Amino acid sequence: MVKENWTEKGYVDEPIPEGIDLNAEIRRMCKEKNAVILAHYYTDGAVQDIADFVGDSLALAQWSAKTDADIIVMCGVHFMGETNKILCPDKKVLVLDLNAGCSLADSCNAADLKAYIAEHPGYKVVSYVNTTAAVKALTDVVVTSSNAKLIVDSFPKDEKLIFGPDKNLGNYINSVTGRSMLLWNGGCHVHGQFSLEKILQIKAEHPNAKILVHPECPAPIQKVADVIGSTAGLLKFAINDEATEFIVATESGILHEMTKACPDKLFIPAPPEASETVGCSCNECSYMKLNTLEKLYNTLKYEWPTIEVDKDIAEKAVRPIDKMLEISKALTAPMANK
Ligand code: 13P
Ligand code: SF4
Repeated sequence: MVKENWTEKGYVDEPIPEGIDLNAEIRRMCKEKNAVILAHYYTDGAVQDIADFVGDSLALAQWSAKTDADIIVMCGVHFMGETNKILCPDKKVLVLDLNAGCSLADSCNAADLKAYIAEHPGYKVVSYVNTTAAVKALTDVVVTSSNAKLIVDSFPKDEKLIFGPDKNLGNYINSVTGRSMLLWNGGCHVHGQFSLEKILQIKAEHPNAKILVHPECPAPIQKVADVIGSTAGLLKFAINDEATEFIVATESGILHEMTKACPDKLFIPAPPEASETVGCSCNECSYMKLNTLEKLYNTLKYEWPTIEVDKDIAEKAVRPIDKMLEISKALTAPMANK
């Protein structure tokens, strides 16, 4: 039974029974219900720690495509749950809070994209995974930050391409592929606000620190990067590089796995423009942080909120996602798998 106040709130708002061991109960329910918990690197550390798999957007899609669980619990944001549901229409896909959206996905609505495509006949559409199912349904191939270069390179050099919605990622892919894709003017509110000045100030205090940058950051931040990559790519670099200090220009949740994987290295979150103090770690995705252990418990217990995708949209959206997975077969993103 879905209660009216849950529907209004977008999550199961029930008290947690007193005295229970939340972690043990979550694991017990997973076993009992044959459920798998997937979490993105931006979620809270406690959520990452209890998940079966933690990864970047590509790895999460790859895992959902191959799991034999009956229930997928996606601790992340709404488009990730939609991608899971599109790939696994017969499974129950749960998210922890329907309010966990994505400012980047919001920056491109399907009706506007449809009109833009109509104005540009002969163009193929490459869409970042941070999009709604309806946008994916208008798309030729989906990409993530892990595989965008590989996938764009797979098109003939003279193929006319529209890339959206992230303008910064699009500019980056244009620069590394030598293309001139038409770019949608979208962006992420978290990655758009890192302060170059503050990053350079930290660099001056830690001259040996390497700067790790997500491609959703604007070009001036990308310019000072030692490496540009997806969350999994940045994590892999930090693990393998000989440097012992890193300035991290992406959502600060990734520091949890970085610190766990490299306890002897120092990870400094890049500060946003608005923060008062240099080194402040308040550059968080408010949507990702809606995922809590308490909501995970209630979601599993009551099997709600579920993700549903319109059948017609799902049938169209699955093709560009499958195409992405096919081209990315060789890329198995590193995954914290416990
Ligand atoms: P990754 O695919 O690099 O994990 O990025 C997801 C995301 O939402 C970045 O803001
Ligand atoms: Fe979306 Fe930005 Fe949050 Fe990533 S960090 S989920 S792009 S709002």
